[in-house]
Amino acid sequence: MSEDSSALSASKHRLPRHIAIIMDGNGRWAKNRMLPRFAGHKAGVEAVRGVVENCARKGVEALTLFAFSSENWRRPAKEVGLLMDLLHTALGREVKRLNENNVRLRFIGDRTAFSEKLQSRLHEGEEETKENTGLTLVVAVNYGGMWDIAHAARLIARQVKDGQLDVQDIDEELFATFLSLNDLPGPDLFIRTGGEMRISNFLLWQLAYAELYFTDTLWPDFNEQTLNEALASFAKRQRRFGRTSEQVEQEEGA
Ligand code: IPE
Ligand code: IPE
Ligand code: MG
Repeated sequence: MSEDSSALSASKHRLPRHIAIIMDGNGRWAKNRMLPRFAGHKAGVEAVRGVVENCARKGVEALTLFAFSSENWRRPAKEVGLLMDLLHTALGREVKRLNENNVRLRFIGDRTAFSEKLQSRLHEGEEETKENTGLTLVVAVNYGGMWDIAHAARLIARQVKDGQLDVQDIDEELFATFLSLNDLPGPDLFIRTGGEMRISNFLLWQLAYAELYFTDTLWPDFNEQTLNEALASFAKRQRRFGRTSEQVEQEEGA
């Protein structure tokens, strides 16, 4: 069997349950075409549609996409405004398609910073897809990993103050229940497009044991083929979670 086909057959058995993606490179994609940055963001929405449908079809349980970070407010006001508009229109347009694909849509991040109009769109998107039983699509908007952890700490502190929780009971397991994505399996595979090798304040706690995959492909060019490459790389990795490879092999052979 060639390396390629063995990776392909392995990938069927070793499909990540949860994929988390930093969709980066929209601006450079546009610049390469002498287009305004916004054209790259628009093209990025098309790539989102593709990856969502592919993940749904392959049987991935959850897909978390970083759409707007808590640091992205630092961009020029015009770009921020256009991104907000794009999120609003894309949602209005795509929810029907998500329903057709049995996708359940959710958002994580501090949405209180958004306009009332956008906040209700986010809420509607969640409500209109909540009965779906296929892929869970999580979109991170005004999200920051440090915010997530601080927010969890605040919720926990309040419970301690109110006497609902004992300080002794705070451990990793309990802490995680106050974080975003607490009801989903942890991300198994992290993908970042656009060539940068950093986490940029995305899921900090939740990525503790994710397999990391970086590609130079710019987000608007990310398609089924590039997704398959990431999946094939994932399928070839041995996840040891602190154990030795001998232990893992023994367990897999058992
Ligand atoms: C990612 O693409 C999209 C968002 C952060 C909203 P960028 O806009 O960061 O694209 P580059 O990194 O400038 O190419
Ligand atoms: C990360 O991309 C955020 C999103 C993709 C939404 P950035 O392009 O903002 O990341 P940095 O600033 O280059 O690290
Ligand atoms: Mg970028």
